[in-house]
Amino acid sequence: MSAGKTVRLDRLLANLGYGSRREIQILARTGRIRLDGAPLRDAEQRVVADDAFAARLVVDGEPLDPLPGFMLMMNKPLGVTCSHKEAGPLVYRLLPDRWRLREPAISTVGRLDKETSGLLLLTDDGTLLHKIISPRRQIAKTYRATLDRPLRGDETALFAAGGLMLEGEDKPLLPARLEPLGAQEALLTLVEGRYHQARRMFAAVGNHVVALHRISVGGLALPDDLAPGEFSVLDAEEIARVFAE
Ligand code: URA
Repeated sequence: MSAGKTVRLDRLLANLGYGSRREIQILARTGRIRLDGAPLRDAEQRVVADDAFAARLVVDGEPLDPLPGFMLMMNKPLGVTCSHKEAGPLVYRLLPDRWRLREPAISTVGRLDKETSGLLLLTDDGTLLHKIISPRRQIAKTYRATLDRPLRGDETALFAAGGLMLEGEDKPLLPARLEPLGAQEALLTLVEGRYHQARRMFAAVGNHVVALHRISVGGLALPDDLAPGEFSVLDAEEIARVFAE
């Protein structure tokens, strides 16, 4: 949220998913919204919705949720889908219930397959989202791939050369970096985000991915202490790292 912008308190909290404006007014009147510890009973007052204000506000004894314009990273577990509406477990269900009512809504920054784990970014900031997925920026995404068969030995050069054509496509791939970690394990760094790209690249060289885990996006790495299903809100320095090499 831009600095200095004023907004009605009930609108701010309603957009954060705390309830309807009417419900927020009741929260305020009953002393459940506090600023510096003192009840804020007038929910119609305008407030400066910046981080400094948010840090002083407490709702039902809890710090305020992140203001609009935030990004988080999740360690996406296996078996959950990056979708708002498909059947089965969805990544959005791993966030607090209230966050699903936020306006603007939270979206994943690109997608990981249901059976891919690791670093997944989510944001409610459409401009930031498009900056990260824009093909023009070629932000590097690194995956650890576990393979069904040993590497042949020529994959690193083949992927690095660019020009590999995936089945069913008519545009060759940009160069990608492959760093073998063992006979059946490698790091693969892509600057594109084609459908099932990593799996299809290994299929193109006669192999099969049995596990795929994203370890970094740009210069932002998944921390070791973020367990599958856990997430953390990024600070400005961490967001900047996404755009760093
Ligand atoms: N490549 C894939 O095949 N799957 C992913 O989820 C990401 C990259």
